Amino acid sequence: MSTQRFSDQVALVTGAGSGIGRATCVRLATEGASIAALDVRGDAVGETIKELAALGVRAIALECDVASPEAVSDAVSRTENELGTIDVLANVAGIGDTAGLGGIETLADDRWQRVFDVNLSGPFYLCKAVLPGMAVRGRGAVVNVSSLAGRSKSANGGLAYSSSKAGLLGLTRHLAFDYGPKGVRVNAICPGGVDTPMIRAAGAANASSQAEADARRKRVEAYGYFMPIKRLSSADEQAAAIAFLASEDASYINGVALDVNGGLYMA
Ligand SMILES: NC(=O)c1ccc[n+]([C@@H]2O[C@H](COP(=O)([O-])OP(=O)(O)OC[C@H]3O[C@@H](n4cnc5c(N)ncnc54)[C@H](O)[C@@H]3O)[C@@H](O)[C@H]2O)c1
Repeated sequence: MSTQRFSDQVALVTGAGSGIGRATCVRLATEGASIAALDVRGDAVGETIKELAALGVRAIALECDVASPEAVSDAVSRTENELGTIDVLANVAGIGDTAGLGGIETLADDRWQRVFDVNLSGPFYLCKAVLPGMAVRGRGAVVNVSSLAGRSKSANGGLAYSSSKAGLLGLTRHLAFDYGPKGVRVNAICPGGVDTPMIRAAGAANASSQAEADARRKRVEAYGYFMPIKRLSSADEQAAAIAFLASEDASYINGVALDVNGGLYMA
């Protein structure tokens, strides 16, 4: 990849310690961005910073729970102080919800709440902290990572996950409407099955009974099988879609939910 679409730009990426978030940091850095890599797991984001250091880019690690508005506000201030104003925000952090696979009766209220706190309130707090500055400067791009679960329903997660990801698409559209006139684009990607620790956590190893383990194994296997492309996506393929929407190549794209699912769900 030889393009440098993010030269002299600063990108804040959440969920940067693993999977799609880490791949997004590497992709944006390879194309010239300085990176604020945010994750609730300090050790994991430290590993990402090592990869970024090898690329020779400016990068800082932010250990932060996106569900905390105070921590998010501090992380955004640190980014601006140490790297400069933010041009790209990628809200990638999210948690799965296999606890809800058994249906609504088995889903504890606090689990429902936590999934919403991370998957929907997290991007809300980040957008609230970052978008006003982008609007003043008249430029910027936000990419939210929703899911096929937000477009349809989750194959491997439960109802809290699907509901939070559908909510994230609503947030995306509303912000796209509000901030488009101010020169800021807000879009989402909707990955299908991506080979990361999250989808592996939906697998048999985390089951509480043999029957559940069998059901989970079959579900994840079937997921790859029913993809028209016949395999799960890599994290890099999702990062490429995020980079596209964040770049000037997508200068007239605002408020979309881009399906990146190999054709599993077409609409
Ligand atoms: N893997 C898939 O099949 C798939 C499919 C559709 C959508 N997604 C979405 O893609 C995004 C990334 O998922 P992934 O597959 O890379 O998962 P992952 O588990 O590999 O990475 C998620 C990262 O988010 C971080 N994180 C979790 N809670 C956080 C919090 N409260 N604050 C800050 N960071 C937090 C984790 O520590 C982890 O590093 C998620 O939003 C997920 O819902 C994934």
